[in-house]
Amino acid sequence: MSEMGTDGAALEQELERMLEIEKFEPPAEFRERALWSDPAIYEEAAADPVAWWTARSKELLDWDVEPTQGLDDSNPPFYKWFEDGRINASAQCLDRHVAAGNGGRVAYHWRGEEGERRDVTYAELLDSTRRFANALKDLGVEKGDVVGIYLPMIPEVAVAMLACARIGAIHNVVFGGFSAESVRERMEFSEAKALVTVDGARRKGKTAPIKQQVDEEMGGLGSLKTIVVIRSTGIECPMTEGRDVFFEEICAAADPECPAEPMEAEHPLFILYTSGSTASPKGILHTTGGYLTGVAATHRYVFDLRPETDVWWCAADVGWVTGHSYIVYGPLANGATSVMWEGAPDYPHKGAWWETVQDTGATILYAAPTAIRTFIKWGADIPAKYDLSSLRLLGSVGEPINPKAWLWYHQVIGGGRCPIVDTWWQTETGGIMITPLPGITATKPGSATTPFPGVSAEVVDERTGEPVAEGQGLLMLEKPWPSMLRTLYKEDDRFVETYFSKFGEERYLVGDAARRDKDGYFWVIGRIDDVVNVSGHRLSTAEVESAIVAHENVAEAAVIGQSDEDTGQAICAFVTLAGDTAPSEGLDAGIREEVAARIGKFARPKRIVWADDLPKTRSGKIMRRLLRDIAEGRALGDVTTLRDPDVMAELEKQIAAEGDED
Ligand code: PRX
Repeated sequence: MSEMGTDGAALEQELERMLEIEKFEPPAEFRERALWSDPAIYEEAAADPVAWWTARSKELLDWDVEPTQGLDDSNPPFYKWFEDGRINASAQCLDRHVAAGNGGRVAYHWRGEEGERRDVTYAELLDSTRRFANALKDLGVEKGDVVGIYLPMIPEVAVAMLACARIGAIHNVVFGGFSAESVRERMEFSEAKALVTVDGARRKGKTAPIKQQVDEEMGGLGSLKTIVVIRSTGIECPMTEGRDVFFEEICAAADPECPAEPMEAEHPLFILYTSGSTASPKGILHTTGGYLTGVAATHRYVFDLRPETDVWWCAADVGWVTGHSYIVYGPLANGATSVMWEGAPDYPHKGAWWETVQDTGATILYAAPTAIRTFIKWGADIPAKYDLSSLRLLGSVGEPINPKAWLWYHQVIGGGRCPIVDTWWQTETGGIMITPLPGITATKPGSATTPFPGVSAEVVDERTGEPVAEGQGLLMLEKPWPSMLRTLYKEDDRFVETYFSKFGEERYLVGDAARRDKDGYFWVIGRIDDVVNVSGHRLSTAEVESAIVAHENVAEAAVIGQSDEDTGQAICAFVTLAGDTAPSEGLDAGIREEVAARIGKFARPKRIVWADDLPKTRSGKIMRRLLRDIAEGRALGDVTTLRDPDVMAELEKQIAAEGDED
């Protein structure tokens, strides 16, 4: 227990002092034992990235048919990797570990909401996966079909994903926090043939009737032939004869033998919908061999992972890419033992995470800055009650981490001894792209430091596309990498337009602004498009606007992301009401309700500003830049292009009135 943990003022002083430290070198003990400690790895990879990635792919995966090809770039930006190789993702994650005698190793230490514990071994996971794969086949699911997965954090979510991979079905996981309407939309876009869900899901002592909600939305969806229901909470749920089946029953009846069929390296592994600039989500498509190579390599080397001794905990949800890559595919491909966490960080109590570290002996923790900021608010005396000495490495993901939070994480959770890897990447990149290597890189709080070996990133001038050596610009990825998205599902043109139209088909436009410092370190600033990042959840302003205007009393809405101490960004909505409807608290609640139903509770606006009119250009485009200025209390930028400059004066009055109410 650290002394600092219990004395808030001393800790505060210590962190203030540490803000002066520019760089944190890897601790000598860590460097000496690290898998990678020689910086020559960067040059080796840069000399021939394709050969280097190919070597990683052979080092970390056991191919059924080894690829003779590395990168096929004959049709940019539709890149292919390891094309003539054959591999099955579920066999890589399960069978080979069991065959090597590690079937008894725990794959997941599952921790349930009410403190339940369940350890699932590799052998058990393989058995369940085989059975469910056969059950899916019995239901008529074939290679290339899309299967939706809408589940809470229970071990069956991994079983469902791996069973799809085993038979070549493409999974489309929807985060459990999305509403059933969002699920329907994603099932419709992807023409899913089956959906795997639960009777109910638990959240902080309450149970949501998930299957019932799904039923209310799924009627009439022609492509959807089957809904598989996992009995997770045991609550009653409606079942439709001929369409709905219970997971437990079909698995019990299924053949336990199910040989894994080798897939083409470029066979689609999954689609994951994410938010872009417009209201309709983008179906990011990842394929098998390149994706597995990317996640296995980054998981192993960014986190210095020793499968025999480490207990790995990625505290994300499987419904986001972080969960796909670092709860399921990366850790299982590497034969790691992971913690899988079902609940909220403050349930049953605010020390639940730290109790879990203590109980499982977790050695590596990978979490989002928003969680860290929450823990800071709750106080260092809570983690100080637990033994966190098993931790040896910490990771951060999902949004920029502010230096103060980084230092708190380092001192209070890491006891000052654990390196921190701040990892920058996206749904599109499949795996980590910019990150320290913990045995090599000197870290700077707030910077994701430099690209992973084999990855080329640049910060370029917005107009010319020329690299900016020092200073701010657009973040670009300059060369193809194995785990990159292959396209947007069924929207090839949108794929090219979104990522490869600005500076050519060879340069991937990330959508983030970044700057480089004198040491060449990257500092990611945030999105340049209309995407907001609320508690690490990616949302498009257009998506939220379209949910708000669906409310019967709303005429128009403009949504912006506003800086927020707790959640990084928060949704702020400027709303114009229809006719002579007057603003009211009821209306405010009604609008939030509408957003919860259409997208999910996490997308509800934190702040609603009633507006008589919105600032628009002469061509009618809403000027969100001005709304951001006004919401954050900054001096207004250029207003000369506004159709009606008086609108801003009115809005300023409105904001001032809001302040008075507080
Ligand atoms: O803006 C960047 C931010 O999250 C975006 C990607 O979001 P998503 O596809 O949901 O994936 C999140 C998990 C990888 C990026 O465009 N972002 C992610 N990691 C970081 C980050 N911003 C700063 N620092 C990071 N480490």
